[in-house]
Amino acid sequence: MKAHSQEPAVDQLGALLRAAVDAIILIDRSGIVTQFNAAAERIFGYSREEVIGRNVSMLMPNPYRDEHDRYLERYQQTGQAHIIGIGREVIAGRKDGTVFPIELSVGEFFDGVNSGYVGIIRDITQRKQQEEQLRQSSEELRLIFDNAPTAMTITDLEGQVLNVNRSACELLRYEPEELLRLRLVDLVHEEDRAELERQFGRLREGEETCQCEVRYVSPTAEVVHAAHHAAVVHDENGEPLMLISEIVDRSALYEANREAEELQRQLAHVGRIGTLGEMVSGIAHEVNQPLAAIASYASACRRMMLANQTNPGETLSILEKIARQAERAGQVIRGLRSLAKRSERQRQAIEPNQLVRDVIRLVEFELRGDGFQLELSLEPELPLFMGDGVQIQQVILNLIRNAIEAMADSGEGDTVSIETLVPEADWIEVRVSDRGPGLPVEVAQRLFEPFFTTKPQGMGLGLSICKSIASAHGGELSYFVNEHHGATFALRLPACDSSEETIEGDGA
Ligand SMILES: Nc1ncnc2c1ncn2[C@@H]1O[C@H](COP(=O)(O)OP(=O)(O)OP(=O)(O)O)[C@@H](O)[C@H]1O
Ligand SMILES: [Mg+2]
Repeated sequence: MKAHSQEPAVDQLGALLRAAVDAIILIDRSGIVTQFNAAAERIFGYSREEVIGRNVSMLMPNPYRDEHDRYLERYQQTGQAHIIGIGREVIAGRKDGTVFPIELSVGEFFDGVNSGYVGIIRDITQRKQQEEQLRQSSEELRLIFDNAPTAMTITDLEGQVLNVNRSACELLRYEPEELLRLRLVDLVHEEDRAELERQFGRLREGEETCQCEVRYVSPTAEVVHAAHHAAVVHDENGEPLMLISEIVDRSALYEANREAEELQRQLAHVGRIGTLGEMVSGIAHEVNQPLAAIASYASACRRMMLANQTNPGETLSILEKIARQAERAGQVIRGLRSLAKRSERQRQAIEPNQLVRDVIRLVEFELRGDGFQLELSLEPELPLFMGDGVQIQQVILNLIRNAIEAMADSGEGDTVSIETLVPEADWIEVRVSDRGPGLPVEVAQRLFEPFFTTKPQGMGLGLSICKSIASAHGGELSYFVNEHHGATFALRLPACDSSEETIEGDGA
């Protein structure tokens, strides 16, 4: 049976050796090559005649070449194999002297007659090159990531930090190891967390990129205003895998905006004080009226008491009148005080009609005194707007004063109309119209320029301050000619959610 199967087995082996893509080398127990297949010839550059009968160590570069014999001997004595049965990556040498990486697996055989070892060798030069290229490009990527001037983080889809670069640690003022345990949302100001969560949620649901403005808070409670851009990285199946975020420091911009806002506020204040200065005589008169009324009620009371004609009912009614007049004077003074005050930046939800009524209290007298009518048309169902009530009062006051001045200077028209309305959804508008001469084209073009005035005593600041207040509120101030050929100025402001905190009227 043995003799029977021997021949075909040799044939099978020959076929196997010829067909194999990998180099197959058989050696005897002393290391002499007994088989060297076609793939081995191709890989090593030797013909089989050059190798068969020689020590296999010729295929190895030093120091392996010299060690090989010793290694074989040791194995045969001790039975301790370092390579048999285990594939490993080693170095081989070609005929032309070049050295190359191979994957070598070794087996031992004994077919009853012969014994020795079989080595299967795969040239892994290309694979090694690819691995090296991959290693290099991932190293390059790592260097770019680490040294990028912008702060970058890699997170899982929930925002848990997997990797951060140096700029991110510097910007957020954390050590890299500290960040690795955290979620980005935990580093954000608590008021901004919901927004960042919402953006990450959108990315999980299929959005590719997102962007939002958030405040990061450092371990020492410093606040960094930042623009957060994030993008999804997909796996090979197109499934979202992780998020790469870029955090851009916006603190300088934020600071510049804050300074500009502060300047705008100061300018508005100076403008208001100027306007109040011009209104002083009118206002003094306005306050004087209730004071005069109080004085005359008081002396009537006094006369009655001196003449012993006191009647409790009558005295009470006079005292009530005094109280009413005092209240009227008090209202004017309160309105003045809030306008003159150098208020801190304050934004509150304000009811536009009430604000218009507060302004009117301050100019009513001047209007009536100069023989002007006031026409009011207030839309009852108005949304609120967010803003600095004092500044918006200032705008309306300026517009009314311009209207009065236009009509007084030209002698045309006698009515100022104030209207509140909803020009389109989510906006409110306050319009101040006059029936004066309107504006010549050259005036209309330069209307909002600072220091542009056609009045001998004018500063030319009124409308430019109004315009800056309007834009600081996210709104706008525009001009058009109305149906009476006079001027209409329209202050348009974004409406706000009525659930926010409300102040009404002077509120100061
Ligand atoms: N309702 C109006 N009708 C006609 N012209 C107007 C009207 N409002 C403004 N103007 C023109 O626009 C110019 C600029 O107005 P603005 O309020 O900015 O400055 P001013 O009124 O001249 O000075 P002030 O700084 O005291 O307000 C005015 O000088 C005037 O020529
Ligand atoms: Mg003016």
